[in-house]
Amino acid sequence: MKIIVSKNHDESSLKVALIMSEIINSSKNPVIGLATGGTVVNVYQELVNLYNERKLSFKNTKTINLDEYIGIAPTHEQSYRYFMNSNLFDKIDIDINNTFVPIGNNSDTDKALADFQYQLDNNDRDFQLLGIGPNGHIAFNEPDKYLHANAHMISIAATTIEANARFFASKDEVPKKAFTQGMGDILKAKSIALLATGENKANVIKSLIFGDDVSTDNPSTFLKMHADTTIFIDENLANIIGYK
Ligand code: F6R
Repeated sequence: MKIIVSKNHDESSLKVALIMSEIINSSKNPVIGLATGGTVVNVYQELVNLYNERKLSFKNTKTINLDEYIGIAPTHEQSYRYFMNSNLFDKIDIDINNTFVPIGNNSDTDKALADFQYQLDNNDRDFQLLGIGPNGHIAFNEPDKYLHANAHMISIAATTIEANARFFASKDEVPKKAFTQGMGDILKAKSIALLATGENKANVIKSLIFGDDVSTDNPSTFLKMHADTTIFIDENLANIIGYK
């Protein structure tokens, strides 16, 4: 695992965007795994900037997202499909048919999961972008006795509902379940970049960076078993956890 410390979160975001841009520009048919959440908004803005400067085209790119809330429509402002469209897809030259986000209001959840797994099984990711939850979750793989390898349905942890309530009118409106990629599929991506900022991520980032344990209590620690993972943090977070 490589650790890259940047001056601030904007600089981390630019570095990640440039890595993604290089992978996209140098592959014939790149497949890129995407994440949502506050941490990655700036990465998408940087990708849009590169596109506007004509340094990047998404014409041949396919994307697969990590997860989606269950029970809200793709048009809902807090759905991850809406997030992706408004932060990235609507602003670049990607073919929207080449973007996959599970459909959260599909009443046939078995079919939704089968479609999700089909995409993962048939599109090897060149790169996976990740954020991390304050409890160490990756996608919606929440700390538990077991983690799962493949796409599955999960009950969102109470701490995550609390953390994500900032995007909704109230905590009660945060969906309680989600579709998520499993850890096995995430670890199949050729290279992975995890981006983290903020004091509330300090504990989990500390045990990810310093500890040797791989534990379902902190799902991010499974990244230690991946051959090409880079953790991007800013100086503020590095100082809090004592990383030099
Ligand atoms: C979302 C996802 C989540 C977020 C995590 C951090 O697709 O995969 O694991 O990365 O919840 O969210 P923020 O960035 O809002 O702190």
